[in-house]
Amino acid sequence: MGWVEDTVESLRSGRMLALISAVDGRVGGLLIHTTRRGRAFTHLFLTSVGDPELDALPLIRSLIATYSENLRRIDLTFSAVLARTEEEIRRQFPTWGLPFRFLERQRMSRTLDSATPPPQPPLPSGFRFGSATDFPVSLLAAVDFSAFEDSPDRGLVAESVEEDERILTDILAGELSPFLKDGSPSVIQVFDGGGESLLGFVLSVELTPGNALIVDVALLLESRGRGVGYALLSRALRGLLARGIREVALWVTLENVAAIHLYEKAGFRVIQKEPIYIWEASR
Ligand SMILES: CC(C)(COP(=O)(O)OP(=O)(O)OC[C@H]1O[C@@H](n2cnc3c(N)ncnc32)[C@H](O)[C@@H]1OP(=O)(O)O)[C@@H](O)C(=O)NCCC(=O)NCCS
Repeated sequence: MGWVEDTVESLRSGRMLALISAVDGRVGGLLIHTTRRGRAFTHLFLTSVGDPELDALPLIRSLIATYSENLRRIDLTFSAVLARTEEEIRRQFPTWGLPFRFLERQRMSRTLDSATPPPQPPLPSGFRFGSATDFPVSLLAAVDFSAFEDSPDRGLVAESVEEDERILTDILAGELSPFLKDGSPSVIQVFDGGGESLLGFVLSVELTPGNALIVDVALLLESRGRGVGYALLSRALRGLLARGIREVALWVTLENVAAIHLYEKAGFRVIQKEPIYIWEASR
C-alpha cells in the first residue's frame, strides 16, 4: 500500500484524525495528526487556494483547543501546493502569538556509486566494528539516549530511555520501512583485559528499493572528536552500497553543527529544509 492509500485507510479507521478548513466547497487546508503516547505528530497542508491567515491559523487554533488537554506535546510540520504559500506561513507564524517553539531541520542526501565507493577510514586502536544487531535493544537504547543527551536533536524522537527502546524496537522490526542490517554498524571498544563496551551505532532503513534513510547516528560523548563518527558512518555507507543502495538521506537539526560537519565530510548535501513547530504542555 502506498502512503496515500495508507493515510486514507488511517483516516477511515480513526487511527489518524483530520481537521479540514472548508468554506462553500472551497477547501483551503487540511490538518492530519496521529497521536502516540501523549504526543501528536501533525502535518498541516494548504491547497492551492489555501490562505495562511484564513486556513492555517484557524486549523492550528482548533488543534490546540480540541486536543491539547490530553497531550504532552505537538510536533507540527506544514506544506502547501504553492511554494509562496509555504513561505507566507513561515513568515506569518511568529506573528500569530501561538505557544510554539521553532526548530529547523534539514534533509541531506548523497548518492552511492560502486565506481567511487566511500573510503573506509581506520578506527583508533582498541576499537572495532560490529553490527548494531549484535546487542540487545535495551543496551542500544541506553547508548542512544545518553548520546543524544547533549545533542540539539535531543527530544525530537525519544523523551525517555523507555520510549527510545520502543522506537528502536520498531525500527529493528521494520515497522517504519524494512530495516537494513548492512547499513547499521556499531562501534565497540575492546579493553586489554578482554572486556568490550558498545560506544555507538548507525541505523538504516530502506524507504523504496535502492533508497535508504539513516534514521539514527549515535556515539557516546567520550569517544567523540577522534574520527570515530566518520569511520562509523563510512562503514554504514559502504554496507549500504554493497546492499545495492544508490541514494542515502537523513534528517538533522540545523543547530547540530557536529553532525552537519560529519555529514558534509561524508559527502551529504542539503536538499530540503523543514521547519518544525513544537508545542509542549506546561509542566
Ligand atoms: C555527530 C557525531 C556522531 C559526530 O561524531 P565524532 O566522532 O565526534 O565525529 P568525527 O570526530 O568523526 O568528526 C567528523 C567531522 O565533524 C567535525 N566535528 C565533529 N564534532 C564537531 C563539533 N562539535 N563542532 C564542529 N565540528 C565537529 C570534525 O572536525 C570532523 O571534520 P574534519 O575532519 O573536517 O575536522 C557525535 O557528535 C554524536 O553522536 N552526537 C550526538 C548524537 C547526534 O546528534 N547524532 C546526529 C543526529 S542527526
